[in-house]
Amino acid sequence: MPSLANIRNIGQYAGQEVEIQGWLYNLRESGKLLFPQFRDGTGIIQGVVVKSAVSPEVFERVRTLTQESSVRVAGKVRAEQRAPGGFEIEVSDLEVLHLVPPEQPYPITPKEHGTEFLMDHRHLWLRSVRQRAIMGVRHEIIKACRDFFDDRGFTLVDTPILTPTSCEGTTTLFEVDYFDDKAYLTQSGQLYNEAAAMAVGKTYCFGPTFRAEKSKTRRHLTEFWMVEPEVAFATLDDIMALAEELVACVVQRVLSRRRADLQALQRDVSKLEACTPPFPRLSYDEAVKILKDKGSAIEWGADFGGTDETLLSENFPKPLLVHRYPSQVKAFYMAPDPACPELALCVDVLAPEGYGEIVGGGERLADYDLLVRRIEEAKLPREPFEWYLDLRRYGTVPHSGFGMGIERVVAWVCGLEHVRETIPFPRMLYRLKP
Ligand code: 4AD
Ligand code: MG
Repeated sequence: MPSLANIRNIGQYAGQEVEIQGWLYNLRESGKLLFPQFRDGTGIIQGVVVKSAVSPEVFERVRTLTQESSVRVAGKVRAEQRAPGGFEIEVSDLEVLHLVPPEQPYPITPKEHGTEFLMDHRHLWLRSVRQRAIMGVRHEIIKACRDFFDDRGFTLVDTPILTPTSCEGTTTLFEVDYFDDKAYLTQSGQLYNEAAAMAVGKTYCFGPTFRAEKSKTRRHLTEFWMVEPEVAFATLDDIMALAEELVACVVQRVLSRRRADLQALQRDVSKLEACTPPFPRLSYDEAVKILKDKGSAIEWGADFGGTDETLLSENFPKPLLVHRYPSQVKAFYMAPDPACPELALCVDVLAPEGYGEIVGGGERLADYDLLVRRIEEAKLPREPFEWYLDLRRYGTVPHSGFGMGIERVVAWVCGLEHVRETIPFPRMLYRLKP
């Protein structure tokens, strides 16, 4: 029995008979030769079928294969410089597991398709080279985040998805029936993270979060994944350093382990290689000055829009840390800057190349009385926050944390135009299918 090989590692079988199992990606015919391309989820390899070298049945079976038919292929691996990947397989036998009927062909052909068509066929589109590469990078980024925190003594504490309150403003809440009551899909695990940080010191959560975003931008999903660390006794400076280290580590990890995927995406890796610490830092005040000089209509006190973020990051080849925004544009839980109480001790990390905010966080309000006042000012109901106030009643300490949106990071690292391709099954204002 020949060994079952993965296309990714096919080189180690050069000169040997192997079996691969996968799908027909493409087929080219040239007289007495057939050139089927097979994919198996780890890569693509070109096969060669020589009419005189196989039985007439096998030749005919390959010749009539349709795109995405599933197959088991036996053959000899051969180094071939001209082949993509450097190897090809000399097919000796082929078994068809499922033949896609020629009268009902695979809907996604090598020709160009519109985005809506591809999105409607997302369950099939995922099989493409490009989408597989994106999923590979996404996987690496998620693993890198987990390793980053695990290696630094953080304890993963899972936070709930069904919650009784809002965390990031009430306008983007998804409401769900909860027996005789209402619940909301979580916008962020932060509030629960703060409880966990008081229990374990350094914690993180990593899960799906939800925002009923009515915006149709290339940066917004209604369901996205966020990794959120929270650290007891940490200040804004500490958490800025942590965010910088995390972002740098994630980029480095993809560069070192996912070169082939980045290449498949035609990503200019020199732009990523430039992202080494230290990252530039700007206060909100300085950022507003730069924006005004660049002709933005921004006025002090307003939040940055996507265009402002792009304008700002244009000046810097590395991620940019913008800190101390006016409290009025930030969430109720932000600690005020003692040096200037109308500013919040917060930070946003803006990705270069116009990819916008990838990280948001800061130092939390640790003071009971001030937090009560902020909850009132934000017109939030008091009762559902009683447990959160307990964290300030019993041994309150300074603490800080942030959230990094995985899809924004994937979009940037892969160099994608829109976040819809960064997640296997995107959820957006006008998209809930498939
Ligand atoms: O800035 P945000 O809203 O911060 C929080 O939720 C904090 N509670 C996190 C914390 O401190 N623990 O969101 C954090 C990040 C953003 O920087 C962005 O990367 C991503 O989450 N994000 C989105 N990604 C895709 N689609 C959306 N609609 C997003 N909203 C936020
Ligand atoms: Mg934010």
